[in-house]
Amino acid sequence: MKIEIFELERTLSLWENRVKYNLTESGIHPFTLNEVLSQDEIKELFSIRLGYGQSNGSEELRDAISQLYPGTDMDNVLVTNGSAEANFLAIWTYLEPEDELIYMLPNYMQIWGIARSFGINVKSFHLREELNWGPDLEQLKSLISPRTKMIAVCNPNNPTGAVLSEEEMNEIIRLAEQTDAWIYADEVYRGAEYEGKETPSFLGKYEKAIVCCGLSKAYALPGLRIGWLVGPKKSMEKAWAYHDYTSIGSGIISNRIATLVLRPEPRNKILNRNRRILIENLAAFQEWIGKHNSLFELIPPRGGGIVFPRYNVEINSTELATKLREEKSVYIAAGDLFGMDHYLRIGIGTEKDYFLTGLSLIDETLEEIKRG
Ligand SMILES: Cc1ncc(COP(=O)(O)O)c(C=O)c1O
Repeated sequence: MKIEIFELERTLSLWENRVKYNLTESGIHPFTLNEVLSQDEIKELFSIRLGYGQSNGSEELRDAISQLYPGTDMDNVLVTNGSAEANFLAIWTYLEPEDELIYMLPNYMQIWGIARSFGINVKSFHLREELNWGPDLEQLKSLISPRTKMIAVCNPNNPTGAVLSEEEMNEIIRLAEQTDAWIYADEVYRGAEYEGKETPSFLGKYEKAIVCCGLSKAYALPGLRIGWLVGPKKSMEKAWAYHDYTSIGSGIISNRIATLVLRPEPRNKILNRNRRILIENLAAFQEWIGKHNSLFELIPPRGGGIVFPRYNVEINSTELATKLREEKSVYIAAGDLFGMDHYLRIGIGTEKDYFLTGLSLIDETLEEIKRG
């Protein structure tokens, strides 16, 4: 089977660990075990037998996840290896070749690439900068057809940080209902909002909603590789059978750690620490762009760990990103990776000093470009 290269993830794989300053990290500075568990809890991990564990996720973990979604229980949950596997399974399980998928853009392009490789007809509706990165619902409406089997969104959105309003969510649901389509929501940034109020989930709002989430982003624990799907029980059973063909199950130790961190107290501590980092770094970033007059335009993100500013310098985004990487060892993702030249994806979840040093190196390059 032919695939299109997942350009964003490919360039990350190539460069993120080879540069001094990775300023496009889409997550938040990761925790160590010592920071999230007690010594007793850590000690207990040493006595876990390293068997396979329950392949759809341990009962205790599925139970803990289901508590985050009112009206569900553990049978509504499938635990996966990262939300990346959840996304893969969702497309593979619920869509057939030639079905139509309507996909929110810009976006983390994983679903786009997988769906196209499976022969699914992918159409896209856009978040518009002129709507403060709100969705173009007229465009979505014009794309819906009897062949539409799924509308897929990323909310909060990677890369813009936009969050759908309740009205926008309801309108997307109304349009999906018309053609009995699934709504698939990648909600991996849920919990990383700047204003405190957690983004509402599509789950529970619509019968045919399936959501994906995980511990990599809002929880700053990507090394655990824990993600999940939540949806109607029958659909979870179906995806579990597909999961037998991908990774069988997720790691037994990660399942235990995930259960522990999802208890209300550690969960709140984790989300609060992460929000603190994001709020501080967003303020620092806004101060930084304020010093550059009209060089950058930014619609401030409402959730997630990323900013997606537009820049007004005559240089292509890939060229600029390459220059920064080669000359300053600073890595940022070019807007080109999202089909949007003259934008940059900058991660703001890293440690502040590291972030500020990276930004000052970008300053040097911008000065050089301006001087010609
Ligand atoms: C929107 C979104 N979904 C899913 C993923 C995959 O994350 P993971 O597999 O680490 O949970 C990413 C990673 O960047 C992402 O940004």
